[in-house]
Amino acid sequence: MIYKELKIIFLSDMHLVYEKDFLGINTFNSFSSIVDNIVINHSDADYVIFGGDLVQDQTTESYNFFKSEIKKINTPKLFIRGNHDISDKFFINLQKEKVISSVNSNWEILFLNTYSKGNIFGKVKESDLDLLLKKSESLSDKYLFLYMHHNLFITGSPWLDIHITRNKDKILEFLSKMRNLKIVVNGHIHQETKHQYKGINFVSAPSTSIQFTSNEKKFRLDNKKPGFLEINLQEEGRWEVLCHRVGGNFGSPEINPKSY
Ligand SMILES: [Fe+2]
Repeated sequence: MIYKELKIIFLSDMHLVYEKDFLGINTFNSFSSIVDNIVINHSDADYVIFGGDLVQDQTTESYNFFKSEIKKINTPKLFIRGNHDISDKFFINLQKEKVISSVNSNWEILFLNTYSKGNIFGKVKESDLDLLLKKSESLSDKYLFLYMHHNLFITGSPWLDIHITRNKDKILEFLSKMRNLKIVVNGHIHQETKHQYKGINFVSAPSTSIQFTSNEKKFRLDNKKPGFLEINLQEEGRWEVLCHRVGGNFGSPEINPKSY
């Protein structure tokens, strides 16, 4: 069998707000710029993964805008739920979208749900961790790629770190038992970070809207452009992550924002 490497696009934290800026950024325009960039430059991707926190204001207009934008992308799409994705109906409908892929790969794509109803922080059920571990054992001939919404490593910015995945130590213990797990990607913290833990690599994605920073005592926004990740899963468990930033007509971040 011929094994092909996989190309994955991971975009996250759209925080769509209808007809208003969100802390200086027009999130409809910034999301649209990212989608256009993906359509033009990454139509060869095997999967596009939406990392959660899709809609900030919970309006019908924002939900409809999200649906109409993602229709432009003709690639199998996967979705993971963020703390802002509070509409059960919307999210369940999204996940009903059939993912048809004909790719033969020596990689397997898995996810971990960190959504905890009513909370901004993330939490993973122990039963989900058991299932994930069992699944990984049944895939012992594959390299594993895992995606989730919340982060497992602190950023050093206390206003952001209070919203981390609460049972992160337990999760890391489970993940370290997954022998072929190579890379874990998450959203939620609106910045690109890289960590290593027991041979596993953890990468976080920028937001398609407002950007945050590490090691900032006071809440403030970063000046970096909206962005997304391109992840190339290669032979023999090798991989590379590229962070792409996109310009466009979507305003600039507030200098002294109150909160988010
Ligand atoms: Fe989030």
